[in-house]
Amino acid sequence: MQIAQTPDNSMPVSPAPYPFEINRIGEVAGAEIIGLDLSQPIDAATKDAILRAFLEHHILVFRDQSLTKDEQARFSENFGELESHVGRHPSGEQYHIVHTVTNLGPDGKPEPKVMPKGNYYWHTDKSYHEVPSLTTMLHAIEVPEEGGDTLFANTRMGYETLTPEMKSRIADLKAEHSWEASRRNTNSAPATEEQKKARPPVTHPIVRTHPDTGEKTLYVGMHVSHIHGLPKDESDALLAELLEHTTQPDLVYTHQWRKGDYTMWDNRCLLHRASPNYDAATERRVLHRTVIIGTKPY
Ligand SMILES: [Fe+2]
Repeated sequence: MQIAQTPDNSMPVSPAPYPFEINRIGEVAGAEIIGLDLSQPIDAATKDAILRAFLEHHILVFRDQSLTKDEQARFSENFGELESHVGRHPSGEQYHIVHTVTNLGPDGKPEPKVMPKGNYYWHTDKSYHEVPSLTTMLHAIEVPEEGGDTLFANTRMGYETLTPEMKSRIADLKAEHSWEASRRNTNSAPATEEQKKARPPVTHPIVRTHPDTGEKTLYVGMHVSHIHGLPKDESDALLAELLEHTTQPDLVYTHQWRKGDYTMWDNRCLLHRASPNYDAATERRVLHRTVIIGTKPY
């Protein structure tokens, strides 16, 4: 735990305690919060404490929650503006603002083919947007008996543990991110012309500065097309090297879902991916997702 300093730097003081039970659950990220009911409105002090815990632990897991979609939208809006999704249902209908992530088909039965493959690749949400996501929240409605985990890689630690040579090599590099590249990188159905028009490519720095902590993080993942100014081979190799480095097992927290978990993670200093480590043909996995818009990376 970091010790705060008094203004004259003379005597260390402990940070204010949290007004809820909070326990660290991962080596590199993650804390569980016990005893809050997110279906009810939260007061300003609780919101501030949640934000403080969010910056300290990067992933918060509120246990034993039961929220309707409307309640989830209301809780999410404490932290910014809700984001809609570029994807569409097979029927062409746009996703609800509280989107359901599931392996269940239209008949309500497990159907492994409906799981979007893109979720299995490392990414930071909405990095193909000019202004990507600050946080993503997932509420576990139904989870498999075993598996169906979500993995998180700490990209602040990823940056910190690079060699000085690599840090200076990538210091000023910028990369193009796009929905089109994301579809290509994950062997998914190509982006439609309409989607390409709605989500044109954007450029972000490879090394991002976290707007709330000032710390540097690696901003890479499956939505990246290429690094500007480098030959394709070199760009591909460098992106692969950085991704491999920041997703090495020592920098990853694996979240094993419990029914009722409500997670909230920081897309500005984490990559994440779903794990296909469960039987999607028989087990049920249903999560409700909200995404809060952040700020333009710099
Ligand atoms: Fe995601």
